Amino acid sequence: MYKLLAALALLAGSVPALAAECAIDLDANDAMQYDRKEIVVDAGCKDFTIHLKHSGKLAKNVMGHNVVVAKAADLQGVATDGAAAGLDHDYVKPGDERVIAHSKVIAGGESTTVAFAAGKLAGGGDYAFFCSFPGHWAIMKGTIRRG
Ligand code: CU
Repeated sequence: MYKLLAALALLAGSVPALAAECAIDLDANDAMQYDRKEIVVDAGCKDFTIHLKHSGKLAKNVMGHNVVVAKAADLQGVATDGAAAGLDHDYVKPGDERVIAHSKVIAGGESTTVAFAAGKLAGGGDYAFFCSFPGHWAIMKGTIRRG
């Protein structure tokens, strides 16, 4: 056991400071939930990637999920306009300049990825990630910030 701990400590210590973790896994489910409330983007990241997985079973038009990144103050407006844009547009208004990044809407069992320039999360600002499927953003949301 001691040897294992020592090896782990060595391993942790040997990871270079520059090797920032610039991607995270985000899970969504049939209970309309993400598995995290906060995403911290390492200050050393140039680009950041969110791997969204829908671990449920329901169809896209019933319990579809996406992930949208925007200023926290814009969340409700983006979500409202997204609902009007419909599923064909992944519940994001085409050309919405308030949207920093968004993935497509996925069904249970599917995965998708969205990447964006980390610099778009300006220091000090309040940013949110959320699902823009109608009605989901009230629960499926969290904060995303540069760490
Ligand atoms: Cu959703």
